[in-house]
Amino acid sequence: MKTLPLGNTGVEVSALCLGAMYFGSKNDKATSFRLLDQYVDAGGSFLDSANIYAHWVPGGHAGDSERLLGEWMRERGNRDGLFLASKVGFAYPGIEIGLSAQQIEEECNKSLQHLGVETIDLYYAHVDDYETPLEETMEAFYRLIQAGKVRFIGASNYLAWRMEQAKWTAETHGWEPFCCIQQRYSYLRPNHNARFGMQQVGNPDLLDFCKRRGVTLLAYSAMLGGCFTRYDRPVPEQYVGPDSDQRLAALREVAAETGATVSQIVLAWMLHSDPVVLPLIAASSPEVMADSLGALEVSLSDEQMQRLNAAGV
Ligand SMILES: NC(=O)c1ccc[n+]([C@@H]2O[C@H](COP(=O)([O-])OP(=O)(O)OC[C@H]3O[C@@H](n4cnc5c(N)ncnc54)[C@H](OP(=O)(O)O)[C@@H]3O)[C@@H](O)[C@H]2O)c1
Repeated sequence: MKTLPLGNTGVEVSALCLGAMYFGSKNDKATSFRLLDQYVDAGGSFLDSANIYAHWVPGGHAGDSERLLGEWMRERGNRDGLFLASKVGFAYPGIEIGLSAQQIEEECNKSLQHLGVETIDLYYAHVDDYETPLEETMEAFYRLIQAGKVRFIGASNYLAWRMEQAKWTAETHGWEPFCCIQQRYSYLRPNHNARFGMQQVGNPDLLDFCKRRGVTLLAYSAMLGGCFTRYDRPVPEQYVGPDSDQRLAALREVAAETGATVSQIVLAWMLHSDPVVLPLIAASSPEVMADSLGALEVSLSDEQMQRLNAAGV
């Protein structure tokens, strides 16, 4: 699979990262294994999990996704070829939200145990914590790197100015900065009334930060639940706005020109953007997975990119 640089780390990762949020809960073991195999067979190696996945699913528990990945890696004996990401910071039953040094250390140890590995390749702060001093958080992440428990660190759901503050905090002390930011981001833009709780949206401010600082932007919920090609799934109301019809029309136009699906154009648009945006993909069936993987074959011309970027502006 095509690879992309991960921030300024010098390491390359798969251009499509597989989200494992519902593996082991909403997606049962057999389905999850099948989807993981399909992604790896396509050459992918970048897997995304978190300590909380997916405790909110009926019958689900925090750690289900990590445990499922651990079981799959043990059965396949393939840990070395993978690039594993997990996260800390959100609350789950028994654990409060936050990024104190103690929470980071304890939750990392649990994640390592669930995954059955010695090192997590990419460990994210899942949500910003304004109560804990950034010095405490960044030093705690640095200690994990020093201990060999984590290779690289990233942030998720941070505002651009906090990313800059975290960068300076880390660099002033000689600690590692965040190499990437994982944010809610799609081709459709949220309307002015849109609220996503603690989730933060990738916006021009963040894209400018990423471009100038060499920080990779990863897009979650890029497919907006599948609404681009599955007409039984409406566009989420937060994304219905004055420009959404024009943006959807541009997607359909370029899809018709290229022979790709509308979902593939959304993913291809991210991969052709400047700065490049690395999408997370998610699926419950091999057909959906195949459609998303097919986005890697889609080539967009400069003119098509300009049309997509200009739609609805
Ligand atoms: N950092 C954060 O705060 C955060 C938040 C949310 C998610 N994430 C990460 O991002 C990953 C993806 O998040 P998400 O589930 O919200 O993403 P999404 O891109 O909105 O995908 C959600 C669902 O849309 C459908 N879909 C996806 N691609 C499709 C395609 N090509 N054609 C038709 N339908 C398609 C699938 O539904 P079916 O499953 O029904 O097939 C998929 O499960 C998660 O697994 C997690 O790792 C991170």
